[in-house]
Amino acid sequence: MTAKPIYLDHHATTPVDPDVLAAMLPYFSEHFGNAMSGNHAYGWTAAVAVQKARKQVANLIGADAGEIVFTSGATESVHLAILGLLEERGGKSHVITAATEHKCVLGACEGARKLGHDVTVLGVNSMGQIDLGDLERAIRPDTALVSLMHANNEIGTLHPVARVGEIAKARGIAFHVDAAQTTGRLPIDVRAMHIDLLSLSGHKFYAPKGVGALFMRQTPPRLRLAPRIDGGEQERGLRAGTHNVPGIVGLGAAAEKALSAMPVESERLRLLRDRMIERLTEEIPGTVLNGHPTERLCNNVHLTVRGVTGDQLFALHGIAFSSGSACSSGSAEASHVLTAIGAVPDRSSSAIRFGLGRMTTAAEVDAACERLIEIARKAR
Ligand SMILES: Cc1ncc(COP(=O)(O)O)c(C=O)c1O
Repeated sequence: MTAKPIYLDHHATTPVDPDVLAAMLPYFSEHFGNAMSGNHAYGWTAAVAVQKARKQVANLIGADAGEIVFTSGATESVHLAILGLLEERGGKSHVITAATEHKCVLGACEGARKLGHDVTVLGVNSMGQIDLGDLERAIRPDTALVSLMHANNEIGTLHPVARVGEIAKARGIAFHVDAAQTTGRLPIDVRAMHIDLLSLSGHKFYAPKGVGALFMRQTPPRLRLAPRIDGGEQERGLRAGTHNVPGIVGLGAAAEKALSAMPVESERLRLLRDRMIERLTEEIPGTVLNGHPTERLCNNVHLTVRGVTGDQLFALHGIAFSSGSACSSGSAEASHVLTAIGAVPDRSSSAIRFGLGRMTTAAEVDAACERLIEIARKAR
């Protein structure tokens, strides 16, 4: 039997944590009730579990339980936030976002444009950060929303969300944050960061795929959204459809575990990340780090390796990594993020992303480094 590849692709997805799975299992069979069945104990048990998860997710981001809307993942949350806000406001509005956002944000903004709204896409510098002066200058009287990711899923660059939140709040503009890559990895406080809407995804922090949430501020001034999926009273009418109770229980359990594990786990990942960056940039001449050197996701390593082509990287079997973001890998097109930072690799180079995770060991990081160093030596 061949050994399983070393998994270094945690930006794409994470395995379900064993504690999370254990919390979910009874909700598939023993406690299978519909959380909206108010007439019997099966429904009450499911409703209690959903409510507990709501509190657990809220605790992770400094919110109240009543501000959490369960969804199928970050893509759906993003659509509810952006298009739901614009529809509820009525008329035509203006939205500001950035060129390096995840395709689900850019797609929702494109949808808004087709509906007649205006969208400004801010450029970024070579490290992937927006200029706050550009943001201020882009704001107009009809600007309804700023949507910006917390950390980029390809190059790991962090945006100064608290500063952006302050600017948006001072101008009376709603602020949405796509926090799919940072929830459970970095501390998030929606109040201190002046966030009105925040999208998160279970499968990025050790809960299963197909479950996520949208934080929607309930403190004054009032924020309202029009649902994207209509036809049921679930989630206060904001998201119709029977609750994915096991998934929601898993999301809650993952949130609770992430909150307690975060200080130790993110520091451990940061050290492993830096060890990998240092070793690869020192031992493979011409290798450059993409993204910001310090304002960076604690588990992200994104490099351009000169002298090793994309095809030669295939020799890196035994390691599960990404040559772009999971969504754009496999397509021949240059990633929109590398294009935005001006770092599209030439034909003799390749871009490589490693995403470290809860179960990643130092030995695995070392093995991946050695394998890549060996391939680079052979390629030259
Ligand atoms: C930054 C970011 N936003 C949104 C998403 C979409 O999340 P989901 O898979 O839950 O729809 C991803 C996942 O690739 C992501 O990395």
